Amino acid sequence: MISIKNKVEIELMRESNRIVAEVIYQLGQLMKPGVSTLDLNNKAEEIIAENSAEAAFKGYQMDDLSPYPFSICASINYEVVHGYSSKNKILQNGDIIGIDIGVKKNGFYGDGARTFAIGHISEENMKLLEVTELALKIAIEKCKVGNRIGDISSVIEKTAKENGFYVADGLTGHGIGRELHEEPCVPNFGKAGSGPRLVEGMTIAIEPMFNIGTSKTVEKGWVFCTADRSSSAHFEHTVLVRKEGPEILTFLERN
Ligand code: MF3
Ligand code: CO
Repeated sequence: MISIKNKVEIELMRESNRIVAEVIYQLGQLMKPGVSTLDLNNKAEEIIAENSAEAAFKGYQMDDLSPYPFSICASINYEVVHGYSSKNKILQNGDIIGIDIGVKKNGFYGDGARTFAIGHISEENMKLLEVTELALKIAIEKCKVGNRIGDISSVIEKTAKENGFYVADGLTGHGIGRELHEEPCVPNFGKAGSGPRLVEGMTIAIEPMFNIGTSKTVEKGWVFCTADRSSSAHFEHTVLVRKEGPEILTFLERN
């Protein structure tokens, strides 16, 4: 079932997702060579606690995997998503790093991600970041009452293809609310005009993940990597569908 949020619930979704945006913004200020992914994880935990919220990913259970051990997912270069943090994973000039954050407050979840450049990155990686972020932007513009999930999926797929990139296999966006992952599934490929219709009060996390060399991914426990070890980028916003048009809940003016 797709949950529709009422006014009160929407306010709570705004608050959880505002905290996500705040964490992403503040971690962005720390993205420099020499910083470890564990430093980033710990900073995120601090900010989440200051905001009287909980880290949603820490302890999260999926399938037969052990509970996810960190508060952020930090995925470097060929890691697609769910990368582990470590004091030994030190950011280097030329890296790209995807940061994914989930927060729970007052019973509602927020979810967002962004891929950052560390120092000077290759032109190819730069294009990958730009195109993946662009796909998210175009997809959000499709979040209109009466459109369908397939309208979102198809523009994401088209944006990857047109730019010579590949949609990462095995991963999708999702509805979000009282659960981190709710219906509907929001794939990064598909046919326009297909799938569930968007109605006022739906909240969905849209999250394109694009790879440079192949769609194929390999999973080791939680961590997804590209099969050819080419770079991968991930951007995610939680979006509220309204009559007036989409409202990006994980958006900060200063982001
Ligand atoms: N961030 C992922 C998503 O957007 C979920 C992360 S799973 C976790 O759906 F275990 F890391 F929490
Ligand atoms: Co998500």
